[in-house]
Amino acid sequence: MVKTEISEDYKRAADVIRKGGIVIFPTETVYGIGASSYNEEACKKIYKIKSRPQDNPFIIHVHSISEFEDLAFLELEYKNQIQSLIPGPISFILKKKKEVFSTGLPTIGLRVPSGNIISDFLKFAGPVSAPSANLSGKPSITRFNDIIEEFSGKVDFILKFKEPEIGIESTVIDLSVNPPILLRPGKISFSFLKIKFPNLILPSKEINEIKSPRVKYKHYSPDCKLQLIKSIKEISTIKKYGYIGFDSSIKTFHSVIVKTNEDYMKNLYSFFIDCDKKGIKEAYCDYPKDDDSKMALLNRLEKAVSGK
Ligand code: TXA
Ligand code: MG
Repeated sequence: MVKTEISEDYKRAADVIRKGGIVIFPTETVYGIGASSYNEEACKKIYKIKSRPQDNPFIIHVHSISEFEDLAFLELEYKNQIQSLIPGPISFILKKKKEVFSTGLPTIGLRVPSGNIISDFLKFAGPVSAPSANLSGKPSITRFNDIIEEFSGKVDFILKFKEPEIGIESTVIDLSVNPPILLRPGKISFSFLKIKFPNLILPSKEINEIKSPRVKYKHYSPDCKLQLIKSIKEISTIKKYGYIGFDSSIKTFHSVIVKTNEDYMKNLYSFFIDCDKKGIKEAYCDYPKDDDSKMALLNRLEKAVSGK
């Protein structure tokens, strides 16, 4: 057991990082569990705490584009586009320039989360390598109380600040290859990115397995059995089941009614966590609405349903 400090003091949180500690912090997407990118030993501790496979690299969180240039090779043609997308819920894979922790890959993922406090925390802490704060194979966490339950006694510091608003992880785009590839869909959508990066492509299954190690592992999956549904008739007889979706007439043991895809995104992981907490064995998720957020939402739903 580690003594976990819980506080809003971001300078103190940065200090803990600089001294080799592990800090959980909120971002606009989900909570992250981080260590100094220059401290290999501390970064390796995170794998242990999460039970995460050791070849799955972390995203490096920084506060400005100047750090991109310090840590990675940033092609001039991409600089303006990146600048226009940060801070925000998007991570960029670039060729690595400086020796930082990245599981031996020649590339690193970089992200500038939004919000003044987080930005100041990162300014003081230096680059922070952080995967999502969840046990490997479990949904990412979006509520402070779930963080306390899961990680008290396991990390040195929990930075108490606004809970994540988006609810699913950042979009990941690989700019180290030509044409660039969307490795993970997120709030910043493929169609929006296509305007900035016209030759952007979606990955083939083969590319995905090489480029994004994550896809080899089970992810985003709660304990209960999930089903993705397109119509209410499919669950007309349910009682002690879980439901998340748009139909307010559905009354089940545990239901979360959402209005938009964005609302759905924000509530999805906490719905999974609550289903597990309540011992629900089967849950139903509505098919997302047809808009820009559909790809990202469907990606997380399909992973959760398939358990892959
Ligand atoms: O929103 C987010 O991105 C959150 C917050 C905390 O920033 N972080 C997050 O980290 O979701 P994680 O580790 O759960 O997902 C990072 C993804 C993984 O799929 C990893 O394989 C991929 O990014 N990744 C990181 N570095 C990479 C690299 N150099 N090449 C290819 N994929 C990389
Ligand atoms: Mg994760």
